[in-house]
Amino acid sequence: MRRLPYALSFAGAALVACTFNDPLPDDFGVCEVEATQVEPTPGLTYYADIQPILAERCGSCHADGGIAPFAFDTYAKLFPLRDLIADVTADRSMPPWPPGDCCGEYMHDRSLAAGELAAILGWVADGAPEGDAADAHSEEPPASGLSRVDLELTMPSAYTPTESDGDEVRCFLLDWPEAERRYITGLQVRPGSPELVHHAIVYAVPPLKGALYEALDDADDAVGWSCPGGLAEGSDSVVGGWVPGSQGYDFPEGLGSVVEPDSKVILSVHYNFAPALGAEDQTSIELRLDSTVERQLSGLAVYNPAWLLGKTMKIPAGEADVTFAYGYDPSPYIGDTALIHNVSLHMHEHGSAGSLAIERADGSVECLLDIADWDYDWQGDYYLAQPVRIERGDRLKVECHFDNSAENQPLGAAPEDLAWGDDEEMCIATVLVTRA
Ligand code: HEC
Repeated sequence: MRRLPYALSFAGAALVACTFNDPLPDDFGVCEVEATQVEPTPGLTYYADIQPILAERCGSCHADGGIAPFAFDTYAKLFPLRDLIADVTADRSMPPWPPGDCCGEYMHDRSLAAGELAAILGWVADGAPEGDAADAHSEEPPASGLSRVDLELTMPSAYTPTESDGDEVRCFLLDWPEAERRYITGLQVRPGSPELVHHAIVYAVPPLKGALYEALDDADDAVGWSCPGGLAEGSDSVVGGWVPGSQGYDFPEGLGSVVEPDSKVILSVHYNFAPALGAEDQTSIELRLDSTVERQLSGLAVYNPAWLLGKTMKIPAGEADVTFAYGYDPSPYIGDTALIHNVSLHMHEHGSAGSLAIERADGSVECLLDIADWDYDWQGDYYLAQPVRIERGDRLKVECHFDNSAENQPLGAAPEDLAWGDDEEMCIATVLVTRA
């Protein structure tokens, strides 16, 4: 079933406009326990202790041909980098993991556990000893996080990103071959050229909407079409996303996104190809499918329709912190009680921070996602470790901060007034829910 969250929420907003647009409280996303203090562990060696941690936590990106600028998969390569590695792990800038610690717990969390950080810091403090190569662990990391692959869909042909500034977001339309109703229960994106593909989002659009996207596809001579704003009007058909370094995974047990026969799948790929100008890419998606699921995931977008339709999201040139917030009660679309499983945020390059919260009917506020230092290159979607219940009367609220000062312009261009638009800015949260 199609849901159009804006239609009704728009009417609702007209009734109680001011409270719906209030920003989140000042202490939102702040907690008392600051970053965990770790005590460096002494007496460790590279082969016995450090190599397995770095292979698991860093190796998916810091590999030859990976998204990170260099590999450190041997002792000889690692040793000269040891102090830098201690610095970036201690300040938590590596591995990249945008969600704040004071909000929620997520599955597939890439950040280092306290014990792993203690091991790295202790080993570097000890002078980074090599140890005995006989202690080396030989297990290869698993090839895919999916328990099985039932269907593989590939871009119809290879594409060479061309936009001159080295950054491009392109959508590709893929045919859905299944003749019966199926549920996607796991997703893995396999970049054709890992050094080009910075992130990808997969949508399943129902048969009725396919023609719209076929027209966009046909209107462009090359395969696919340019879609820098993602698929804003279709953000409720999101199936999942991928950022470099993530393995792809089965969805939580019993959950799946329905795909009817004759649907289309849209793969939106963010290319960041400055390092490999002229290279081509043909990315594919691996899917785990089931014929039945216990509960069906559906997407819901959280944004103010007036930002889009009325162009009211005005971000003046030169302003360093412009904030927009909007909340609505989604029960007309998801029922009186629903469970939230997955959360994500979408802004473009001027976004500086963003949050998604539930404002309970009793006035309390619960954090679902808080990204204090928004980085367009690292937008992902996050499965909550524990699903969160939302009831009639509760509101989902998105808040976005934009920095449109001269210091925060892509490519150092002069600031311009911005509003909602593919080439301007957006502020959308997307949640995947099941009806309880
Ligand atoms: C998800 C991909 C990914 C993972 C996982 C990852 N890195 Fe990185 N790393 C990058 C990228 C990309 C860069 C280049 C700079 C940037 O884009 O932030 C980088 C840069 C670095 C740098 C250079 C930073 C500087 O200031 O010059 C170091 C050191 C580093 N990573 C160490 C690590 C360590 C140690 C781990 C594991 C504990 C790790 N990284 C895990 C993607 C990753």
